[in-house]
Amino acid sequence: MKKVFLWLLIIAIAAVFSLAGCKAEAAEVVEKAVTEEVADIPENPLYKDASASIEDRVEDLLSLMTLAEKIGQMAQIDRMYVGGDVISEYYIGSVLSGGGSVPYDNTPEGWADMYDGFQEEALSTRLGIPIIYGIDAIHGHNNLVGATIFPHNIGLGATSDPDLVRLIAQITAIEVAATGMDWTFGPCITVPQDERWGRTYEGFSEDPELVAELGKAAIEGYQGDDLADSNTILACAKHFIGDGGTSGGVDRGDTICSEEYLREAYIYPYINALEVPVGSIMASFNSWNGVKMHSNSYLLTDVLKEELGFEGFVVSDWQGINEIDGSAREEMSRLDIETSINAGIDMVMIPNDYRGFINMLTELVNQGKVSQSRIDDAVRRILTIKFKLGLFENSYADRSNFGLVGCEEHREIAREAVRESLVLLKNEGSLLPLSKDLDSIVVAGSKADDIGSQCGGWTITWQGAVGEITEGTSILDAIKDTVSKDTIVTYSRNGTEVPPDADVAIVVIGEKPYAEYNGDDKDLLLYTPDKDTINNIRDAGIPVVVILISGRPMIITEEIDKWDALIAAWLPGTEGQGVADVIFGDNAPTGKLSYTWPRSIEQLPINDTDGSKGSLFPFGFGLTY
Ligand code: BGC
Ligand code: BGC
Repeated sequence: MKKVFLWLLIIAIAAVFSLAGCKAEAAEVVEKAVTEEVADIPENPLYKDASASIEDRVEDLLSLMTLAEKIGQMAQIDRMYVGGDVISEYYIGSVLSGGGSVPYDNTPEGWADMYDGFQEEALSTRLGIPIIYGIDAIHGHNNLVGATIFPHNIGLGATSDPDLVRLIAQITAIEVAATGMDWTFGPCITVPQDERWGRTYEGFSEDPELVAELGKAAIEGYQGDDLADSNTILACAKHFIGDGGTSGGVDRGDTICSEEYLREAYIYPYINALEVPVGSIMASFNSWNGVKMHSNSYLLTDVLKEELGFEGFVVSDWQGINEIDGSAREEMSRLDIETSINAGIDMVMIPNDYRGFINMLTELVNQGKVSQSRIDDAVRRILTIKFKLGLFENSYADRSNFGLVGCEEHREIAREAVRESLVLLKNEGSLLPLSKDLDSIVVAGSKADDIGSQCGGWTITWQGAVGEITEGTSILDAIKDTVSKDTIVTYSRNGTEVPPDADVAIVVIGEKPYAEYNGDDKDLLLYTPDKDTINNIRDAGIPVVVILISGRPMIITEEIDKWDALIAAWLPGTEGQGVADVIFGDNAPTGKLSYTWPRSIEQLPINDTDGSKGSLFPFGFGLTY
């Protein structure tokens, strides 16, 4: 028995000696990490001196930071994973709200309290580097109940009005900043080429020039003249690059095209964005010719940063680096991190497994697989923006503007945007505008009395929802408020109980709310109950005005002949009054299609680049009175 034990001991010792060679390297790596010198912080460090140049402040701060502190700056986690002292323990540099990731108290005060709590923790660390908080405020401060919700970008594209888009972004910045947040993940300057894509409505247009013009205006509105102003926020142009060009309009799919086309169609709007310049850019989930964008160092580094001179930072999309190695999106691997950071991602929207991310990136640096200079470059970019935002001087929420969230003045601008976004596609016998003095009007349709459907996805929750999800004016209420007091307005959701002698019916139909891949749709057909509603009204012999609430053109070729008038209203947001303003002639329609309207699904992709040939309505179409 004793002998066996002795032999085992000898074998074990031999094994240790034979491994010693390769172990030496690893031991050194670990030791280096452990014994890394922590620089003493001088009494009045330069980085805290607001009168010093941002460049000097960044270099000073960088020289004091440990590897752990640097890697923390590159880590972004969702607010739902912030608990205990996660922020201070891991030196987390950024927190986000994913769609619908809201504080329990979803009020301006609730948001500001949450923000200040996170900030306090970040400031309690050795160097006291504030966090930067990002949120998808993509059509107003859209996660916050009671905020002003503007039309989604497809509607703003139809206005082709850069001044209005700039103003909307400015107002959004005021409402976002009022609750503490520093940064919006917008504007989306995608150039959607195929309406089957569920994110079509996030894009202003299929036309790169219109996208470039409106995208630039939006960035100017968010960022203002000075990022340090308390009413401005950091913008984020997304998603770089080719998100709108995936084959078949499949979300997160593959964009197959030449580099020349990639530049002309998709990179083009980024050139305008860089003129402002936009402070951050988000990488895209899609691939380009089979290579995931999150791993594409040629496009992220050589083209974007070097050739185009982008000096801000690149943030990855939600778990967007995880699939680089071919594994599931939920799993982040060393290879995912190594490839994406080396490709040029500066901040990683992890958003949950921060321990794994930090441990693996630390190892990769210690093994020399990610260089110290790449880390410094990423952190330098992030810190520069934090200084520009004035976060070191004014770290906490400025609560003086709570009263502006969802205020009348902001809603007036949203209403104007709705008016300008409407596209009149058909108006048989000049049925529109309607008189406010008609005897009897029917209002029908699944979307007539539904703020949630008007707002679409990315409203209060990620996917959006039907019903009374926030404050606003439904189209039904707007109509009732507009007509004379003697006009009888009969609301019948499915058009079955209507007075046969009604003068006209306004039928509001369209898509249910959706976001991202949940909105991918192979057919783009109207829902059967919507068609039934219209048929019920036609059977009663009443002329029909259709208002279509949708995130994109739909296939209506077989239906439109039965309608007397049609207005494409896109996803107008909370201010339904803008629709009534146009129906009853207070304002004539001015909107023009920013997407070609297909005649059949087989035609897709169909775009202005092919002259909208054979379409139902060409790009730029829009009637007026
Ligand atoms: C979307 C981005 C968004 C991010 C954070 C992702 O799934 O693609 O557009 O900014 O989530 O919510
Ligand atoms: C988040 C979204 C994000 C999505 C991506 C959701 O859970 O709330 O913001 O875009 O995941 O899958």
